[in-house]
Amino acid sequence: MPNPKKRTQWSSRLAFILAATGSAVGLGNIWKFPYMTGQNGGSAFVLVYLVCIALIGVPIMMAEVFLGRHARQNPIQAMIALAERENRSSCWQLVGWSGTLSGFIIFSFYSVISGWVIHYVYLAVNNYFSGLTPENAQSLFTEMISNPAEMILTHSLFIFITMVVVARGVQKGLEKAVSILMPGLIILLLILLGYSLNSGSFLEAFRFLFYPDFTKLTEQSVLSAMGQAFFTLSLASGAIMVYGSYLPSDASIPRTCMVVAIADTAIALLSGLVVFPIVFAQGLTPASGPGLVFQTLPVAFGAMPGGTLFASLFFILFIFAALTSSISMVEACVAWLEERWRMSRLKASLWVGLAGWTLGLGTVFSFNLGKTVTFYGKTFFESLDFLTANLLLPLGGMALAIFACWLMAPHPVRNELGMEHRVHFDLWRWVAGVIAPAAILMVFLNSIGIF
Ligand code: TRP
Repeated sequence: MPNPKKRTQWSSRLAFILAATGSAVGLGNIWKFPYMTGQNGGSAFVLVYLVCIALIGVPIMMAEVFLGRHARQNPIQAMIALAERENRSSCWQLVGWSGTLSGFIIFSFYSVISGWVIHYVYLAVNNYFSGLTPENAQSLFTEMISNPAEMILTHSLFIFITMVVVARGVQKGLEKAVSILMPGLIILLLILLGYSLNSGSFLEAFRFLFYPDFTKLTEQSVLSAMGQAFFTLSLASGAIMVYGSYLPSDASIPRTCMVVAIADTAIALLSGLVVFPIVFAQGLTPASGPGLVFQTLPVAFGAMPGGTLFASLFFILFIFAALTSSISMVEACVAWLEERWRMSRLKASLWVGLAGWTLGLGTVFSFNLGKTVTFYGKTFFESLDFLTANLLLPLGGMALAIFACWLMAPHPVRNELGMEHRVHFDLWRWVAGVIAPAAILMVFLNSIGIF
């Protein structure tokens, strides 16, 4: 069993909230949410996404934090220990493996996209955006992604920064970083919102996002909306479980999870409300894919007074938001190498960084030289994204929720979750243990045409 003296803990519940929010808020909210929404037709996707956050995301997040805190180890060893303690099949450790692996795979492409953000800081600081036309914004983006050498440079830089932070230990600096940077990011998004409100297409964008049009909904877009809910909350990928394992015992898990989910969702919606008015006002296509934010926001910055300053600040804060996420993705892997293989934190970080860098090259090339290399019609990057967000995360989440709800002795679970009322506990068990897994299963069967 773990030796509690050896493991670090968050200094308070607030520290955990900040760290988990830092993990949740990142590219998923500002980059992925708008472009996925655009690709999947808007409002109906948003609605399914919101339902998934509330009905699947939050209850599963509670299960995940709980499992981490209960076991107080990295996800792989946590699941081994819990399965053993509860006399369950050792196959349950697969949940830990799948999560840790997913976190690592996501890290490999996340750092490439974060590299784009670094590139955009450079562009912003050097005043590339002032008076930018939508066409120019598009060519800036296209130029960037067709240059693999440059993408490798920024990808390497981002991995390096992440690994330095991780090697020094998750907690030092993270709390402070999140508590200052997150509000900063929100303020800049609000400034951008001011621009979007005046762009003349705000109502059109609002309709696009919130006026449900179910004719646009396909089986695949429902699967993507569910995947996005997992991705944006950093679920089932080791991150939340390992952060939970550092959570002090007296913090309330349900309340904590709710706060994180609300903050995360608010920032995603805000980002959508900023991006789409610009899309419509400039006559861009909502479905243009991963370049969407990079082709829209610079136009907005370019047209506003003080744009260079705001743009620089925004993209710098965006890097920090990505950083607080990326360090959470590799934490499970690093903690495992440290705790299981007794590696030093430095060495573990080095190996994980190197491996992530190498795998990331595949993503770099999938935007240029290797664009035509596809697996089932998906580029390398799209395949990794699909494999994690749409398959491994929902499956892992389903498994860990079932384990926490039905395969553990209920009393300790209820105590750990701090649910004084029996009804609350029963409600959670039904939602996390029955409704969420059933919904996930249905979405799966539906997406492969069975249901
Ligand atoms: N939630 C993050 C975002 O939206 C991404 C993220 C962080 C993540 N940690 C993760 C995704 C772990 C999956 C797994 O940007």
